[in-house]
Amino acid sequence: MRVIAIDGPAGAGKSTIARALAARLGLRYLDTGAMYRALTFAAMRRDVLDDASAVAELAARVVLHVGDDGVVVDGIDATAAIRSPEVTREVSRVAANGAVRAEMVTRQRAWAAEHGGGVIEGRDIASVVFPDAELKLYLTASPRVRAERRVAEAGGDVDEMERAIAARDEYDSSRAHSPLVQADGSHVVDTTGLGIDEVLATIEAMLVAEHAPADEGLR
Ligand code: DC
Repeated sequence: MRVIAIDGPAGAGKSTIARALAARLGLRYLDTGAMYRALTFAAMRRDVLDDASAVAELAARVVLHVGDDGVVVDGIDATAAIRSPEVTREVSRVAANGAVRAEMVTRQRAWAAEHGGGVIEGRDIASVVFPDAELKLYLTASPRVRAERRVAEAGGDVDEMERAIAARDEYDSSRAHSPLVQADGSHVVDTTGLGIDEVLATIEAMLVAEHAPADEGLR
């Protein structure tokens, strides 16, 4: 099983890079943030967001499909809805629920086993879900650049977006369960000022180095 794990804060370029890298390597791509968003969408529909145990119970039984063709939650197409400001506002709270995380980690490992691995992105993929991944990456970029990228995708005001991103980063990094961290053995890639092809070239060089014999420099 071949797993490339990509973590990092919002707007670092994880989804774009993970999707492109997966295509180049002939692997599937999994956006685990979309799984937490899909569960948040399901909890909002059932009006149980404020009940942590009901959300945890929902995590165990909701039927989720998260793929390149979209996101389906209990048979409902939620591809657009999971990106709504309402879901974005509430998702950190759902992702901070320890029982929810345990269930999502189980689902992510099952997905990888079923697909022979993949390029998997999120916040705890290298640190918790796949600590033995073939390559572990921590993608980041300056807060300003991350805000500009999100506004280019979704519209809005850059200053406001920068504040919202900073607040979500702080929450995701300081929560008790699986906070966003740079995992042991992770390679940090700062994508500020880099184009997609430059980031991909950097990562592909890391993959080659990862496979080079340790004593190569001695020959
Ligand atoms: O990457 P994103 O913005 O779609 O992520 C949505 C939320 O889910 C964000 O608050 C971080 C959280 N998340 C997480 O806690 N663990 C993951 N593996 C992926 C996302």
